[in-house]
Amino acid sequence: MTAPLLEVRKLIKSFPGVRALKGVSLSLGRGELLAVIGENGAGKSTLMKILAGVQRPDSGEIALDGTTVELRNVHDSLRAGIALIHQELNLADNLDVAANIFLGREPLKGGLIDTARMRREARQFLEAVGLVVDPATLVSTLTIGHQQLVEIAKALSVNARVLIMDEPTSSLSSHEAENLFKVIRDLRSRGVSLVYVSHRLGEVRALADRVTVLRDGENAGNLEKTEIDHSRMVKLMVGRDLSQFYPHVPRKPGEVVLKVERLQTRAHPRHALSFEVRAGEIVGVAGLVGAGRTELLEALFGVLPAVGGVMRIGGCALAPRSPKEAIAAGLALVPEDRKKQGVILEMAVRENLCLARLRRDQRFGFLSPTGMARLSADMVAALRIKTPHDRQVVQFLSGGNQQKVVLGKWLALKPKVLLLDEPTRGVDIGAKQEIYRLMEELADQGVAILFVSSEMEEILGMSDRALVLHEGRLAGELARGALSEEAVMHLATGSERLAA
Ligand SMILES: Nc1ncnc2c1ncn2[C@@H]1O[C@H](COP(=O)(O)OP(=O)(O)O)[C@@H](O)[C@H]1O
Ligand SMILES: [Mg+2]
Repeated sequence: MTAPLLEVRKLIKSFPGVRALKGVSLSLGRGELLAVIGENGAGKSTLMKILAGVQRPDSGEIALDGTTVELRNVHDSLRAGIALIHQELNLADNLDVAANIFLGREPLKGGLIDTARMRREARQFLEAVGLVVDPATLVSTLTIGHQQLVEIAKALSVNARVLIMDEPTSSLSSHEAENLFKVIRDLRSRGVSLVYVSHRLGEVRALADRVTVLRDGENAGNLEKTEIDHSRMVKLMVGRDLSQFYPHVPRKPGEVVLKVERLQTRAHPRHALSFEVRAGEIVGVAGLVGAGRTELLEALFGVLPAVGGVMRIGGCALAPRSPKEAIAAGLALVPEDRKKQGVILEMAVRENLCLARLRRDQRFGFLSPTGMARLSADMVAALRIKTPHDRQVVQFLSGGNQQKVVLGKWLALKPKVLLLDEPTRGVDIGAKQEIYRLMEELADQGVAILFVSSEMEEILGMSDRALVLHEGRLAGELARGALSEEAVMHLATGSERLAA
């Protein structure tokens, strides 16, 4: 048997107060795409930085082609053919694309940089990653997705045999991500070996040849191609079963709280949507990208007012023209992009938690400083928000805890209907489970919950009932008993139409 291309044996790395890696091993075959997954803090980035020569291990071995190598710095790693695309990209903003690709290795002519040749050669690497831009373009003018492709082109220009990507899709749009996957598949078919670090299990399932799972600085297990599925990955990441992961318990739903009648969103005015959500019911909204899920929530909440139809909340008809009207009627929306719309990152936990209440009750002005302190303390406790104190600025909290602050802000209004858009996007698995538990608690208290999710497991795990949208139309409704991945996909892709 030939040795694997890259082999890591028992790496140990400590930082003051933390053992980030406690003897981690992995191996990578030629032309293979190995996904490395694990919860936040599992040690993934530390391992990748060691392979890229950015950090040095305390002990352990790294072998390439069966020969032990010392990676003392980034140059050693590059010389060995290992390149890392960092989570935060590493380009020089003030230089053009070609200069970034050849930074430190510029072709010279008569002692000066041969710009013409550099740009000519840059073209061939840009072509390899499918990026159609002039090599003389300043990188600061490119989108994040394109900057990332420049980084990959740069890695190819140093002949990287092992390309490591650390959470490469975390700041990409879904379109940019799709393009990146194409480039990745293409590189693999040309013999480049890849280590792909990601949180997003859907893309891991779509891309990986093998999966290595880290948990708490240790190897938690490996999955071969045929074993890669969501529940196995989650089980290894969290060390427990998926059935225990979703705390869902069936409840007897109460009265209809939200009744939507022939609602027409601005994005898909040709389709009228009608459905109900009862007290204590958790209704999932599934669909592919572009199905109109966010637009539905935004129409209900008056962000982008509907062009037709009404809804009834506890019997009162309304067609909100603004979030203010929706809030007054008992609705709350936790938006998908919490950084843009959900919290004010520069403000403290307490101010954020009280924000929605203060705005609504402005006219009455009855939330005193002590009232605020109490409300905030209650929310921090109820949501188990991990923060040293509630005067902490929100941007220093983890993603999961920021999301809990957004939730808390809306829960302070005691809404009758809670709208959640991708409630667990970008939060780690521990915080995910806490958000699920919270949804359950709210449903137990009689709140009607409508949540949009792109994660199949979340729709299947958390919904009492699911609505499936396809290109703006309500393609179908599935009761919990009828919920399955196949049934959802069937409706989401519009294939029931084709069959008819
Ligand atoms: N430079 C550093 N200094 C101190 N602690 C660090 C440093 N880098 C990482 N850590 C700690 O090491 C652990 C693993 O972190 P990391 O490798 O970034 O995990 P992951 O990428 O899986 O989220 C965490 O507890 C983290 O706080
Ligand atoms: Mg990381």
